[in-house]
Amino acid sequence: MKCKTCGEKAVVNMTQHKLALCKEHYLEWIPQQTARFIKKYWMFGPDEKILVAVSGGKDSLSLWDILQRLGYNADGMYIGLGIDGGIGYSDESHRLTEKFASERGLKLHVVDIQKEYGQSIPELAALTLRGQGRPCSVCGVTKRHEMNRIAHDLGYDVLATGHNLDDEAAVLFGNTLNWSREYLLRQKPVLPEHDGLARKVKPLCRFYEKEMTAYAMLRGIEYIYDECPFSVGSTSIYYKELLNQLENERPGAKLTFYLNFLDAREKGFFADDVVKVIPPLFNCPTCGQPTMYEGKCSFCRMVEKVKP
Ligand code: AMP
Ligand code: FES
Ligand code: ZN
Ligand code: ZN
Repeated sequence: MKCKTCGEKAVVNMTQHKLALCKEHYLEWIPQQTARFIKKYWMFGPDEKILVAVSGGKDSLSLWDILQRLGYNADGMYIGLGIDGGIGYSDESHRLTEKFASERGLKLHVVDIQKEYGQSIPELAALTLRGQGRPCSVCGVTKRHEMNRIAHDLGYDVLATGHNLDDEAAVLFGNTLNWSREYLLRQKPVLPEHDGLARKVKPLCRFYEKEMTAYAMLRGIEYIYDECPFSVGSTSIYYKELLNQLENERPGAKLTFYLNFLDAREKGFFADDVVKVIPPLFNCPTCGQPTMYEGKCSFCRMVEKVKP
């Protein structure tokens, strides 16, 4: 297989795009495509201050790398969750994130949940869920809250996450199975800013997970290979496996599923009763962040509940 650009030996063959590239041209292609998506979805302009949420995984570290290469003003934020799982998961992801930042002279903000709120994620989950279910819901609420808080308090215009196509397609699959119109309406590459919260963007949302793995490896980025130990057996991993089976039979199916969804929404597919499905937002009296219901937000309620 030959590189479409230079004719040298290709190292990546993307059947879904009918495109094979050598290392050099693949490492150029990914940032070029990212720049295209940033413009296409109006994610941010050249002078905006970007905060990249970096987990130590391949997607978010690659995203940070790409934004730097494209000349954007992007700092990082790592949230220490205090998850061990027998593999020192949080410690290792923190180490790799710090290493990435210091080797490139990049600014990294670190929030340690245990130091900030007195409990790690597994402890918060044990106290609030009382052994029922995985900590992922508690973790999700906490990460979202902290990302919004830091982006707002430090004056960033945009908050960028490393969600890739496999992540987005799996969420879309779940939302479609349940016909959760509120979630379908909100699942976007860009969520505009509101109530003083930074705009949220997902610049990698059109890249397959395997494309990001190839990018991180070819670029020589050291990242944590392990998934979060609590994600084993989760619904989202199950949906990803199902979609991979489909993709194996029909290359491009995942991308079509996602892109046609974005297109359908643009064309008003879900527009009939938009007003009814987007509930009015309130502000949490404790932290000020927007909430779906009047009163304290779910994060503040949780933290209050576990206070000694
Ligand atoms: P996940 O929810 O683990 O699939 O991660 C989705 C995105 O959230 C990642 O690509 C990161 O941008 C961000 N993220 C996840 N975990 C962390 C973390 N511990 N610290 C900062 N950002 C994170
Ligand atoms: Fe949060 Fe796994 S429970 S990353
Ligand atoms: Zn080439
Ligand atoms: Zn709150």
